Amino acid sequence: MKNQIALNNVSHYFETPHGRISLFDDLSLNISGQSSLAITGPSGVGKSSLLSLAAGLEPPRDGEISFTCEGQQISIVELRQKSGFIFQQFHLLEELDALGNIALPLRLKGNRKANEIARNWLDKIGLSDRANHKPNQLSGGEQQRVAIARAFVTDPVFIFADEPTGNLDAQTSTGVSDLMFDFAKQTGSALVIVTHSEELAQRAEKCFALSDTGLEQIK
Ligand SMILES: Nc1ncnc2c1ncn2[C@@H]1O[C@H](COP(=O)(O)OP(=O)(O)OP(=O)(O)O)[C@@H](O)[C@H]1O
Ligand SMILES: [Mg+2]
Repeated sequence: MKNQIALNNVSHYFETPHGRISLFDDLSLNISGQSSLAITGPSGVGKSSLLSLAAGLEPPRDGEISFTCEGQQISIVELRQKSGFIFQQFHLLEELDALGNIALPLRLKGNRKANEIARNWLDKIGLSDRANHKPNQLSGGEQQRVAIARAFVTDPVFIFADEPTGNLDAQTSTGVSDLMFDFAKQTGSALVIVTHSEELAQRAEKCFALSDTGLEQIK
């Protein structure tokens, strides 16, 4: 497999003053590039935590996670450089306008064509006329389109999305999902989506349900 994230016998829990919160035990999952995968499940079951582990943002308490890109094992640092993130709360920088938010990941990589490329992405998301508007001047759906462009602007291998439509109405959700799946297809990025939305989950090639008893493939 050229691009892959492999979780092998992973367990995760949190120690709190009131005792241990166990999320999952002995969980294994292969996420392969060039595909889309959704994880659903009830609130509090550990979906966001599982996504953090898969994205290398946090190490598991037990078990192993390996990241492969172009057939080579890569480090967590490299994985992050090859990944894009989309969140329920958009997480745009308030002080930057739409263009600045999209250009930021490219600027951080020292890309001199950051603005030019970001303008192209603004066009793709249909917000060319809002380039100089700050996030608080944009609707929720528009902010999420900017967040999606920002996630894809560096041509990432993996896109991790946590409830990307969680704050949007049904019609806006469909538009935002269309963009995510279209861009993933165009750029060849793998989509890993955590969602409560049955509709969004069913659009992914593979779908898993996380519950107290573990992870079960439902599609
Ligand atoms: N840093 C932490 N310390 C202690 N407990 C935590 C921490 N992060 C998450 N938890 C707990 O772990 C459990 C799973 O959290 P997680 O956010 O992964 O759930 P989720 O499935 O994404 O839920 P939701 O659908 O509501 O977003 C919850 O009970 C949460 O309170
Ligand atoms: Mg969550």
